[in-house]
Amino acid sequence: MPIDLRSDTVTRPTEAMRAAMAAAEVGDDVYGEDPTVDALERRVAELLGHEAAVFTPTGTMANQLGIRALVAPGQELLCDADAHVVRAELGAAAALAGVTTRTWSTPDGRFDADAVAAMSRPGAGPYFVSTAAVAVENTHNFGGGTVIPLASMQRLRDLTQPTGVALHLDGARLWNAHVASRVPLAMYGRLADTVSVCLSKGLGAPVGSLLASSRDRVAEARVWRKRLGGGMRQVGILAAAGLHALDHHVERLADDHVRARRLADAVAAKVPDALDPTTVETNIVVISTADAPAVVARARDEGVLLSLLDPTHLRFVTHLDIGDDDVEVAAGVLVRALGA
Ligand SMILES: Cc1ncc(COP(=O)(O)O)c(C=O)c1O
Repeated sequence: MPIDLRSDTVTRPTEAMRAAMAAAEVGDDVYGEDPTVDALERRVAELLGHEAAVFTPTGTMANQLGIRALVAPGQELLCDADAHVVRAELGAAAALAGVTTRTWSTPDGRFDADAVAAMSRPGAGPYFVSTAAVAVENTHNFGGGTVIPLASMQRLRDLTQPTGVALHLDGARLWNAHVASRVPLAMYGRLADTVSVCLSKGLGAPVGSLLASSRDRVAEARVWRKRLGGGMRQVGILAAAGLHALDHHVERLADDHVRARRLADAVAAKVPDALDPTTVETNIVVISTADAPAVVARARDEGVLLSLLDPTHLRFVTHLDIGDDDVEVAAGVLVRALGA
């Protein structure tokens, strides 16, 4: 088996998670009759400090349901240029909801709230595009697992909310931000009008995300989920995996963070130009190198899988299926692959 560091989405359900799935009580969720889905939705809504939540097959769908709820066709969403919603969801906001986007640049996902607020142009019609919402991502994936400080989100909220501009939080890895910062999930969650979270990343569930928001927005999101083909039937089997993950796989994310830092330290000790290990906050680490495709290929030949981000950057991600021994082996392989 290769050591798969491409993403935290590659985990396989544990035996205990499979047992929870097998034992799940289920019903037809399109009729609103699946008690396990209902329990998961209630629990996540409460964790995030919102009235309601809706279970979706993917984080992409949860994000897009959130954006659709906040931004009307022809209005704009502001986000950073490396945000998953604009870089990796195949133009869904434009293709499916008629939403335009305007972006700011950031090397690591962090943002200057005052500068973002200054970009915002609510109520700019009838000749100009009006800003309806801002999207932020916490932790920031392509930024390298960066934890966005609560203070930045709070400042952004304080500046934008009075102008009628809404906030969407892509919290695919909000669990990691919570464990790394010890900020309660609901403190992040309450700052946003819509929040997406994923169960299928660091938490190790095979499938599943949720969108949390007000009761009305979630009711509307359910309509759009069905319209987009995301109405699912006896899906309590998957919701049970999510509930199991919430019980057993949140606090252990700290282990992933420690292992990511250990691997980063080992690489930086031999290849100091590749990364600054002191910037590693969670489970995602970005490495700079002159020829990233060659490094990824060399590591693959030695049984370590990495993600290619662009010609000069690659990424490794620690997760539930990566142990201390894997980190030790991967460190040697990575250092060799980087030519040291
Ligand atoms: C930050 C972020 N948001 C959203 C998503 C989308 O999740 P999914 O792959 O379930 O659509 C991802 C997936 O990696 C992600 O990293």
